[in-house]
Amino acid sequence: MFQIGIARPIFLLLLLLLLSYNFRSPTMSDAYLAAIATRRTNYAITAESSVSDEKLEAIVKHCVLHSPTPFNIQSSRAVLVIGAENTKLWKMISESYLKGLEGDHRATAEGKLAAFSGGYGTVLFFDDQAVIDDISVKIPAYVKHFPVWSKNAAGMLQHAVWTSLTLEGLAASLQHNGAYSDELVADILKTWGLPSTWTSSAMMPFGDPAKPPGEKQFGPIETRVKVFKA
Ligand SMILES: Cc1cc2nc3c(=O)[nH]c(=O)nc-3n(C[C@H](O)[C@H](O)[C@H](O)COP(=O)(O)O)c2cc1C
Repeated sequence: MFQIGIARPIFLLLLLLLLSYNFRSPTMSDAYLAAIATRRTNYAITAESSVSDEKLEAIVKHCVLHSPTPFNIQSSRAVLVIGAENTKLWKMISESYLKGLEGDHRATAEGKLAAFSGGYGTVLFFDDQAVIDDISVKIPAYVKHFPVWSKNAAGMLQHAVWTSLTLEGLAASLQHNGAYSDELVADILKTWGLPSTWTSSAMMPFGDPAKPPGEKQFGPIETRVKVFKA
């Protein structure tokens, strides 16, 4: 009688635990969503990297392989420059970007560029215009869309690399110095022996963080996401 008396509450407790157990997988999208929220713009980079060069290369290759492109044209390109090569890159960028800048604007730019130059490395992102031209000939109906779609694809790749670097504990930011000077991009392509058909989509300077990123402000999500369901 006593045994039956204690078995009943234990059974109910076990049932309650079982029913309250969250059967939704807690590890798949949750981990990914947390990773997305971790990625931040952080200009405070050092000349060190706690991540090996081999791992950095593997990350960039993985992201390029698995990021989508329109019609799977695989137009996105990435170049990893590290150490002294990185210093050389940002010297070129600084000389080009600071030309004609004066006063406060110049001082701010100098500060930012010095930080990037003092980082560990940079991932340069490009689109191969030859690939975009090729698909435009094959599918002329979409000719005006391919440049936009390839930029969308470039953004997806940049986000994948940025998030991965952050998950490795590195600080990074997204820069567009290539957009301000065709001459600079031509110099970069020549210096590193890259095809002249590559156009610059972004640059991602990175390194171990000198400090955490600043606080981020968020507008109301309700005005940015709408849901309709019957
Ligand atoms: C398409 C795009 C272009 C950006 N261009 C620059 C840039 O040229 N320079 C820069 O410092 N940050 C740039 N950013 C970074 C944004 O300013 C930054 O992502 C935004 O303020 C949100 O902050 P978070 O990255 O910390 O989330 C860019 C971001 C995106 C998505």
